[in-house]
Amino acid sequence: MSADQRPRVFVARRLFPEVVDRLRPHFEVDYREADDPMTAEALMARLQGCAGALIAGTEPINAPLLDACPQLRAVCSMAVGFNNIDVPACTAHGVLATNAPGVLTETTADFGFALMMATARRITESEHWLRAGRWLHWSVDLFAGSDVHGATLGIIGMGRIGQAIARRGALGFGMKVAYHNRSRLPAEEEAALGARYLGLHELLREVDHLVIVVPYSQQTHHLIGAAELDLMKPTATLTNIARGGVVDDAALAQALKARRIAAAGLDVFEGEPQLNPALLEVPNIVLTPHIASASLPTRRAMADLAATNLIAALTGGAPPTALNPEVLERRG
Ligand code: DGY
Repeated sequence: MSADQRPRVFVARRLFPEVVDRLRPHFEVDYREADDPMTAEALMARLQGCAGALIAGTEPINAPLLDACPQLRAVCSMAVGFNNIDVPACTAHGVLATNAPGVLTETTADFGFALMMATARRITESEHWLRAGRWLHWSVDLFAGSDVHGATLGIIGMGRIGQAIARRGALGFGMKVAYHNRSRLPAEEEAALGARYLGLHELLREVDHLVIVVPYSQQTHHLIGAAELDLMKPTATLTNIARGGVVDDAALAQALKARRIAAAGLDVFEGEPQLNPALLEVPNIVLTPHIASASLPTRRAMADLAATNLIAALTGGAPPTALNPEVLERRG
């Protein structure tokens, strides 16, 4: 195929050059080698005439954009979370949407576990204090936190990543694992993980360390707010690696300030990269900038999977992780 017959695709963010190079033999590539997010208007303008887009979890793909970009046939995200993509609208417009599950499971579970441990054992709080030159003597309860081993680990959202965290807790740290999920796992999977299913309120009352991994949707918006935090033990910790908005950050900041729970670890925030300023004022919190999947090999694998999906979607192949495969079936 000559260069000018190739479909045009837009790569919305700076990626690994070797991944972008994989696209070039198939497509005319408009590569936006930048890290700042695009406005909806800028994205719409840039997608004019494009058959495909390679995006991250930040670019909004919705009905107005799809109406304005009639040539679009595939939108491939390198994130597993796809709350930025209106999948039913894509299906209605005949646009194939893909995400990137699987390749980031273990890396993200490592991070979730690390953030939970850092929160329980007050790692960053004590480091800030040490760096401030305040370490003058040893004392018996100096930054005494709570144990992770043997404690009850509560997981909200028992998909791939939730299950990988459960395995770390049960097998590595002898934790008692309980979980809440939209649908209960089959009995044999629960037995293999040593995980007990509990209703949300029961789980919140019982848990020592809560890890939230549930996808964001209208149904999970502020799933954890003031009333839910009130159910937790004052010694409990909360770790959120899911999406901003699943936890009510203002309510969480208040609960931490009042020591209604012991501590929190947050990798995701409502309105990120802006943070609720109240979160910055409480000491009993560990904050990270949405990096749970950020090991180099994993980020490369995520981008690679998005490229594989895009190539397959626009060259008559089978994209491995389609969110709406019925679009391809309709294309025949
Ligand atoms: C994901 O893949 O959903 C991660 O949160 C990165 O956006």
